[in-house]
Amino acid sequence: MNNLNQWSKITRWLHASIALSLTIQLVLSLVLVPPDEFDEAGSLGIWAMEGHEIIGLVAAGLLFLHWLWMFLPNNDVKLTNLFPFLKAGGVQQIKSQIQYVMKEQKLPDASEHGGLAGLIHGFGILIATAVAASGVGLYVVMEYSSKGFENPLFENIAEVHELFGNLMWFYLIAHVLAAGWHEYAGERIISRMFRV
Ligand code: HEM
Ligand code: HEM
Repeated sequence: MNNLNQWSKITRWLHASIALSLTIQLVLSLVLVPPDEFDEAGSLGIWAMEGHEIIGLVAAGLLFLHWLWMFLPNNDVKLTNLFPFLKAGGVQQIKSQIQYVMKEQKLPDASEHGGLAGLIHGFGILIATAVAASGVGLYVVMEYSSKGFENPLFENIAEVHELFGNLMWFYLIAHVLAAGWHEYAGERIISRMFRV
């Protein structure tokens, strides 16, 4: 495995804090009670909603920093790794990696950050950004619009938030399974990514 696989300290810390905050958010979403149903809610549901609001805003800030990091020159995440179709030969590389997975029943070597794995990570960042942005939208409507959560916009944004929230679960499970598969194959990517 070459040096490319040593993620920089900034990437590792951003990733670890995004992974932790989003995992907590998904778990809290299982128990939270939305503010329009507080009348019939128990204290756990209300407490989970308040935690979800605060951690969600922090997660949105972390994702914003991740985007800034992606746009800086010389960072190791690189827009062309997360969205490989932006670079020449990127689509071809993904096609041949998909063929490799189907034929060999193995994941491509994780020593390069782009290709199929990069594309999947790119989807992860887009889904996380959409769920965070719609969460911030819910916060703004609740706190700053005249009708608060009774504003019809609240229900519309909540639907978008729920859709991306479900996709986030799907991504998290698939991403952790793929990381575990690499780990099982001896590539040690989990300990490399979460090294302090
Ligand atoms: C940034 C990371 C966030 C993630 C991963 C996330 C995830 C989720 C998920 C999975 C649900 C459950 C959806 C369903 O019932 O299927 C949910 C519900 C909800 N979230 Fe978030 N959320 C985030 C941020 C926020 C923020 C910042 C707010 C601000 C207030 C927020 C407010 C809500 C509300 C009000 C609901 C209940 C919606 C309803 O059922 O009417 N979320 N969230
Ligand atoms: C929803 C939460 C998560 C999101 C949005 C996410 C997103 C990403 C992204 C975008 C990357 C590429 C590097 C970067 O841009 O930071 C990445 C890499 C990685 N993630 Fe996650 N991640 C999440 C949770 C996790 C969790 C819980 C684990 C635990 C196993 C994990 C393990 C890894 C590993 C091992 C890599 C390196 C992969 C490689 O070397 O090719 N991630 N993740």
